[in-house]
Amino acid sequence: MHNIPLDRIRRIRVWEHNHENGILNGTTEDKRKLSLIDLASNDYLGLSRNPRLIKSANVSMSSQGVGSGGSHLITGSRPIHQELENALCQWLGREHVLLFPSGFQANLAAILSLADRKTIVIADKLIHHSLLVGIKASGAKLKRYAHNDLNELEKLLTLSKNQSSLVITESLFSMEGTSPNIQKISNLCSKFGADLLVDEAHALGVLGSEGRGLCYGISGPLKIVSGTFGKAFGSGGAFLASNSSIGNHLIQTSGAYRYTTALAPPLAAAALEALELIKSNPSWGNELQKKALKWRQRIASKGWTYPPGDGPILSVVIGTDKQCLAYQKQLEESGLLVVAIRPPTVPEGTSRLRIIVRKNLPENSLEKLIASLGSK
Ligand SMILES: Cc1ncc(COP(=O)(O)O)c(C=O)c1O
Repeated sequence: MHNIPLDRIRRIRVWEHNHENGILNGTTEDKRKLSLIDLASNDYLGLSRNPRLIKSANVSMSSQGVGSGGSHLITGSRPIHQELENALCQWLGREHVLLFPSGFQANLAAILSLADRKTIVIADKLIHHSLLVGIKASGAKLKRYAHNDLNELEKLLTLSKNQSSLVITESLFSMEGTSPNIQKISNLCSKFGADLLVDEAHALGVLGSEGRGLCYGISGPLKIVSGTFGKAFGSGGAFLASNSSIGNHLIQTSGAYRYTTALAPPLAAAALEALELIKSNPSWGNELQKKALKWRQRIASKGWTYPPGDGPILSVVIGTDKQCLAYQKQLEESGLLVVAIRPPTVPEGTSRLRIIVRKNLPENSLEKLIASLGSK
């Protein structure tokens, strides 16, 4: 076991959701009660307490049980899983969708199906931990390019020409708030004969045409799109979208798919309801982006570096862990929950406030944030 420096030890705090207005209620270590505006969770559209999702999950639970009771190939598959897979296929314009209990697991399955010891994986420097674990498990050789630096990606692709290579990126980086140009990455992959895997965990529901993510309409080298229901979809579980041949191959060969209990039916029902809501409110994503733009501009107007990107994740880099934790405390004292993100989650010296702009925040949230953050 590693020794963890004392100032890097994380403590788990427990929060109770107040479903009226996206406030989280918690308790401090010295037992003070807290009631904070939630500027930290990934529930971008506020769907986790949406009455329609709750009702769908309840109805499903009453008829299908709490858990699925088995893996998909034994007894775990329910009609609701198939309905959700079909609805996602249609919405995303993909031939095949497979459900997983979590995005972490879906990413492992995706990489293990596309890469092995003979593969060269070329990945953005800041990809999510689950993707790195998958790459390691595959035995592939890993080369990394600087964050969103497509010139460096091209150089690495040139060096790996004539070898089996797989490019991996996210479409909305969870700790940066930035997005790469997926179409350009796809073009580069085509040029060099590489496969492409994109993790759309944070983009789905908020970025791209009607919230379909940034991979919508892109195919060719794009072999698998990974998505999760734990963020904008407001529930839990995940999926991989691909062509039929890759999807069927996953069913036959993926341990991460075959040897795990199928997604709990109430979660599948909630995800399907979230999809219906997102489909019938196609402007939600754009509206959230507009709101996030306003927040970015206000933050920058106070002398802070403009938080990059277009989506609801605003990354305000502070520097040391200590400075960042002091800001977290300051915001907390003003009634705002913003979490300091520190190494090893982000590179040393770039501890940051990760501010999440969500759909159903109290009216005065931005004013409170600006007042508490102050000028740089
Ligand atoms: C980019 C990215 N991919 C995958 C995951 C894993 O998704 P899940 O929470 O469904 O396991 C996360 C969640 O933290 C993430 O941020």
